Amino acid sequence: MPVLSDVNLQPLHTLGLQSRAERLYHLEHADQLADILASAVTPLRVLGGGSNLVPAERVAGSVIRVELAGRALLGEDEHAWYVAAAAGENWHDFVQWTLAQGWPGLENLSLIPGTVGAAPIQNIGAYGVELKDRFHALHALSLDDAQPCFFTAEQCMFSYRDSVFKQAEAGRWLITEVLFRLPKQWAPVLDYGDLRQRLDGQAITPQAVADAVIATRQSKLPDPAVIGNAGSFFHNPIVDAATAAALRAHHPAMPAYPQADGRCKLAAGWLIEQAGWKGKRLGPVGMYDKQALVLVNHGDARAADVRTLMQAVQADVQQRFGVQLTPEPIWW
Ligand code: EPU
Repeated sequence: MPVLSDVNLQPLHTLGLQSRAERLYHLEHADQLADILASAVTPLRVLGGGSNLVPAERVAGSVIRVELAGRALLGEDEHAWYVAAAAGENWHDFVQWTLAQGWPGLENLSLIPGTVGAAPIQNIGAYGVELKDRFHALHALSLDDAQPCFFTAEQCMFSYRDSVFKQAEAGRWLITEVLFRLPKQWAPVLDYGDLRQRLDGQAITPQAVADAVIATRQSKLPDPAVIGNAGSFFHNPIVDAATAAALRAHHPAMPAYPQADGRCKLAAGWLIEQAGWKGKRLGPVGMYDKQALVLVNHGDARAADVRTLMQAVQADVQQRFGVQLTPEPIWW
């Protein structure tokens, strides 16, 4: 069972902060977990692709890096394909593989960084589709005793960038495998932003939608291999209808998206840009110049620098709009 001490976490997460872990275990087979639990120092933390993570300079305890591999068609019926992927699989590679097999449905989620096992934790979403729309179930192991457990979609309690794994069950499970249900009746989802315009004049195929999503992401979002970031740094805030209406009266250009429950989702990127933070730096970190919602590491940053910038942005948005922004990544 591979274990390392005082490990540099900088290359193991996409923000690229200066950070070291007391211990790191590589989990290559699910049956290694029991041995890891027997020897690990607590607290335990589970690491996937590290693309939604702000690690402290010193991470005490044990980090378990999930490197479980494998993907397969489990079965099909007249309505859908059922596809399984191990938690350590790269998300984007998995999506491209399903498309190459002729099983569409995940194309709008192309190029999201991270692993399959991390995807349910915050119910990843982009361009009008969320993981929960294609999710069937998942397998996980208890971090108490390595016992397996099966979670249905209902038990996962998915909502916008959230699930039971960030709430009541946070820190209790290691997801080993995710099962997807990909409907055979393909209906492209093209209503977000300029996706439809990007496809203008082209045949609408699953791969064409994937390519349009990839081009859109590449035009706005920084590549973590080039500049450290964790994607959107804040949730898009959801406010009640009266608050949204009052804000729109003062700011007619403010984007606002009515939700099924009557509330309204605001665009955190717009609020941050209006508050003057787009492209602005504070110490070694800043808000990205093409997408103000993305916090970027210009080099040598630590978690404390991220916290300072986060609080400055939150304070300015609060003062100007009376809206509280909450961070999206997980803090260690
Ligand atoms: N906007 C600005 N200025 C900015 C950024 C955005 O005015 O600097 C405005 C845009 O013009 C648009 C609105 O805000 O009217 C929304 O912007 P965008 O379409 O870029 O999406 P987003 O709300 O900023 C969300 C997700 C992204 C996802 C995109 C596309 C969250 C927190 N973020 O971003 O997810 O890729 O929609 O679906 O929900 C992530 O979670 O890491 C992520 C990148």
